[in-house]
Amino acid sequence: MFKSNFEINLDFLRIKSPRLIGVDISSSSVKMVELSRSGKGNQTYRIDRYVIEPMPADAMLDGGIVNLEAVSECLQRGWKRMGTRLKNVALALPVTDVITKKIIVPAGQREDDLAFQVETEASQYIPFPLDEIDLDFQVVKPVQDSQEEVEVLIAASRKEKVEDRVAAALSAGLKAIVMDIESYAAQAAFELTLGQLPENSKDQVIALVDIGATVMKINVFHNGEPVYTRDQPFGGNQLTQEISNQFNLSTEESETAKRNGNLPDNYKSDVLQPFCETLAIEVMRAIQFFYTSTQYTEVNYIFIAGGCAVIPGLSDIIASRTQVSTFVVNPFANMELSSRITSRQLNVDASSLLIACGLALRSFDPS
Ligand SMILES: Nc1ncnc2c1ncn2[C@@H]1O[C@H](COP(=O)(O)OP(=O)(O)OP(=O)(O)O)[C@@H](O)[C@H]1O
Ligand SMILES: [Mg+2]
Repeated sequence: MFKSNFEINLDFLRIKSPRLIGVDISSSSVKMVELSRSGKGNQTYRIDRYVIEPMPADAMLDGGIVNLEAVSECLQRGWKRMGTRLKNVALALPVTDVITKKIIVPAGQREDDLAFQVETEASQYIPFPLDEIDLDFQVVKPVQDSQEEVEVLIAASRKEKVEDRVAAALSAGLKAIVMDIESYAAQAAFELTLGQLPENSKDQVIALVDIGATVMKINVFHNGEPVYTRDQPFGGNQLTQEISNQFNLSTEESETAKRNGNLPDNYKSDVLQPFCETLAIEVMRAIQFFYTSTQYTEVNYIFIAGGCAVIPGLSDIIASRTQVSTFVVNPFANMELSSRITSRQLNVDASSLLIACGLALRSFDPS
């Protein structure tokens, strides 16, 4: 009853997915990742293919699609360049487009009863009529020390946000099978790398900071549980703009020069260094927001991701500002590489592929 009301669900439900491509539609590019199982007993993963297809300027705004045709063409170009046969995709919505809430309900309810309860609950805190939203829920786990109650996660998003992404994929010939949330996808990919920390990061508070072209996305985890999430407007476009102003270059020229380092001698001291300092202050402010809005008073590690994470020396600047050990995330660090992929190029691209990688992992959801 509940499910049939919705055309597409925010699919947290662990249904068996067919193999699919993880697709992150973001402001500067579309990123696609395809993974397969590998290694002894299929315990590890292999990255088979990936692509980063540049997005035309102004096709996206605030994480939303404003030019559907341009986004769809970008998806199509990326898919062709990737050279895959898979057409099923997992997409994600930015956290700012999704309202999530945990509720506690009696255990062992019938699916219908649970759905009714979720809908009643949702109608109380979601500021839109229920027929304008897509709603999904998942039983997360039993409440501690209780056999009688379970924790249920509810997620809701405005229908058009979901439909825009699905439609862009569809007109590029791709079928959206999963609609996830960016922060959940980032967490799934990030967790692949946690083995490198002492005791698998037990009892540690970890901030994952994705710095893209327009947005800095902060997720904080404690013992693997997300405890805080926030997006704030700040990203690499600010650096591009500054390069453009200082050296009188077009935006495109500035973007290229920034990536290949082909800029005058004073670039590092006059432009890059101040940008990194500002970025570190933004990270520090984000962490202070986290302290003021939760009961936490300490962060043990910061991991940076997103295209800006590859700026040489950035993690050191953040570490010295925040006094927290800071590392760059590489979700593929423990993966096998297909022969099509060179590790040198993947090392440059890896940090910006975090969300796409997390979405590609949805191929392996247990049934
Ligand atoms: N080598 C590099 N040096 C400096 N900046 C870089 C480098 N490579 C990429 N960037 C910057 O990283 C940004 C793109 O990162 P990313 O792909 O994570 O962004 P996005 O996901 O498209 O943006 P958003 O998440 O904000 O929508 C751009 O601003 C780009 O200039
Ligand atoms: Mg991004």
